[in-house]
Formats: sequence, C-alpha cells, structure tokens
Amino acid sequence: MTVHVADHPLIKHKLGLMRKHDISTKDFRDLSSEVARLLTYEAAKDLPTQKKTIQGWAGSVEVDELKGKKITIVPILRAGLGMMNGVIDLIPSAKVSVVGYYRNEETLMPVEYYVKTANDIEERIALILDPMLATGGTLLATIDTLKKAGCRRIKGLFLVAAPEGIKKVTEAHPDVEIYVAAVDDRLNEVGYILPGLGDAGDKIFGTK
Ligand code: URA
Repeated sequence: MTVHVADHPLIKHKLGLMRKHDISTKDFRDLSSEVARLLTYEAAKDLPTQKKTIQGWAGSVEVDELKGKKITIVPILRAGLGMMNGVIDLIPSAKVSVVGYYRNEETLMPVEYYVKTANDIEERIALILDPMLATGGTLLATIDTLKKAGCRRIKGLFLVAAPEGIKKVTEAHPDVEIYVAAVDDRLNEVGYILPGLGDAGDKIFGTK
C-alpha cells in the first residue's frame, strides 16, 4: 500500500486549525470539506485522460478530458459524510456509494448495517472517505465489502491516521492507496488518535 502524506502548507495550516479544542461545529465542518478537497486534488493526479478535438474560439483545438467511468466516492457513515462535499466540488459527476458499520461491544469488531454501492462499481475507482484512520478495523471491513462488490481500484482519503491503522491496512491490502493530511503519534487505550482531532463525527455533526 502506498501512503501519501500531504506535504502542503495549506493542508498543514487547515489541519492545525482543526486541532483547537474549542473549534466551532461550523469551522470544523468547513475545514473537513476544505482539506478533503485538497486531498482529492492529490488523489486524482493519476486519473487517465484522453485527447479530444473541440471547436475553440479560433478553430479546432485538441484538449484533454478524463477517460471512461471514473470515481465512486465511498463515505463511511457517519463521519465520512463530512468530507463528501469537498470531494464532490472537484468531481461533480462522481457516484456515491455508502457504507455504515456499528461496533459489536463484545468482539469490538465492526458490523455492517448499511451498504449501497454504485451498480457499475467494478468500472470505477473507489475513494473511501473517513476523517480518522484509527485502528483500521472499519477500513478493512469497507475494503472487503468493496472488493466483494467487484471494485478493482481503491484509494482512501483521511484527515488524520494512526501508525497502527496504517500498518494493519498495509499488511492486508498492499494494493490500496492512502492519502492523509497527517500521520499522528499513536492510539490511546480506547482507540482515539493522539494528538488527533477528538471525535470527528461529533465535531462535524455538532453532537458532542
Ligand atoms: N474516530 C474518531 O472520531 N477519532 C479518533 O481519534 C478515532 C476514531
């Protein structure tokens, strides 16, 4: 698995703002979208293009256009929804496939409760969205679901990742590419990333 850690002043600045303990819901939500948009720019760098001749203002001109069916965005419920608009800003024709999991309190494993994927998912690149790549359990379950549905190319966009989660997913799925604004220090004893952002879902939805 290739891990792309965004090394960009705008992303670093915006993520720094998101770490403030008293950030408002509005600011956290806006910044989640903005960082997602910037990560999308990075993740889209290798999309295939093809030449096309069109009529320009001074006659025919050859331009580039994106080739074939392109992207399905896969927000993981619920926090992944907070990144969705930023991605759609740049890829407005993307189909949206949604997955949802809850945690089994005994096994601590993610249990799927909702899946609705694009019906031509095997022809699309999946862009999984989740603000936090923590233990990696939900991401592994999502990748398994997408591969079973026929998806052949998968990328994941995260605001913050823990080394533990990256390691787990790297070992299981070396073909999946990860784009992340920052890799933080570690997980705490209840699976939160340190220094991290806290509960990203609560902060996006204003439910803390
Ligand atoms: N989910 C969150 O929202 N934050 C973390 O730090 C880990 C998982």
